[in-house]
Amino acid sequence: MTQTITVIRGDGIGPEIMDATLHVLDALGAGLAYEEADAGQVALEKHGELLPQVTLDSIHKNKIALKSPLTTPVGEGFSSINVALRRHFDLYANVRPAKSFPNTKSRFPSGVDLITVRENTEGAYIGEGQAVSADGEIATLTQKVTRKGSERIVRYAFELARKTGRKKITVVHKANILKSTSGLFLKVAREVAAEYPDIQCNEMIVDNTCMQLVMRPEQFDVIVTTNLFGDIISDLCAGLVGGLGLAPGANIGKDAAIFEAVHGSAPDIAGKGIANPCALLLGAAQMLDHIGQPENAERLRKAIVATLEAKDNLTPDLGGEGSTMSFAKAIASRV
Ligand code: NAI
Ligand code: MG
Repeated sequence: MTQTITVIRGDGIGPEIMDATLHVLDALGAGLAYEEADAGQVALEKHGELLPQVTLDSIHKNKIALKSPLTTPVGEGFSSINVALRRHFDLYANVRPAKSFPNTKSRFPSGVDLITVRENTEGAYIGEGQAVSADGEIATLTQKVTRKGSERIVRYAFELARKTGRKKITVVHKANILKSTSGLFLKVAREVAAEYPDIQCNEMIVDNTCMQLVMRPEQFDVIVTTNLFGDIISDLCAGLVGGLGLAPGANIGKDAAIFEAVHGSAPDIAGKGIANPCALLLGAAQMLDHIGQPENAERLRKAIVATLEAKDNLTPDLGGEGSTMSFAKAIASRV
């Protein structure tokens, strides 16, 4: 049976890595049909809107989207379409695995296998109440954390640990300083943790977590944290395993899910055909797990590992001389 998914090609390296990813998914025979929808700069030019209603309708209908990165201007300009998508579909769980792979330029060629579970709909990251005073002297932002938001993300992390046989959850916070927001998150996390005596749980302050991740990443199994900390930590984790080209992310809600790479649109290498497609491919593997195709997800991951092991057409970020498409073809030949 064919399943239709929404495909957003995105900005910068987005279209290149999406072509590569769909090529591999087709080789896999996952039985997917693609409904293309626009968002971001492309959508603005075509539809006069950054996030057109037809795109939202497509995701509502298909419930599953595979999305390339979207550019968000730094400082002034429009606010993030990624944040808008996550909030519109209430995709509260951002699940970001980081795993050591062979033949990367990582400082940790083995021993890292962790998942960051990031709250995805509230906290400082969503930019609520952003304002700059008329004279440009004072900038403010509202940071809101709720019991409901905290509870469901921590519960998601514990359930994920149970389902995937993981043993330990680290709750990452800054409740020593941010007593209200991070304090509430930690309090709720402790309550939820008490319901899961089978899973070990510890707490760690976010700055120490960054140091611990760099020194001894093998001590982490599942990290659960608030939105902004999760954003920063997951890029750090990508760096541990060989870079952003290898780090995928799933945005999961009750009624929809969007799968992507952790990285952005990489304007510095866009259009050169050298972006590593593995992050989006690994995001596609998370998608296959989610839609009930775990065997295909595993075949895809194994083909990526085998291609890395063979050093076959690896992209320059991994030290090779392959292109986005030649790397994808090498992976496709091994699925
Ligand atoms: P970035 O993640 O696009 O790039 C950071 C560095 O990693 C660059 O040197 C880039 O060349 C490299 N890199 C990223 N992906 C790569 C890949 N697949 N293969 C090889 N090298 C890769 O971060 P940056 O430059 O801070 O952000 C650029 C834009 O992307 C911004 O507008 C930002 O808002 C947006 N962004 C979008 C995301 C999304 O759609 N989910 C996530 C992160 C950023
Ligand atoms: Mg980020």
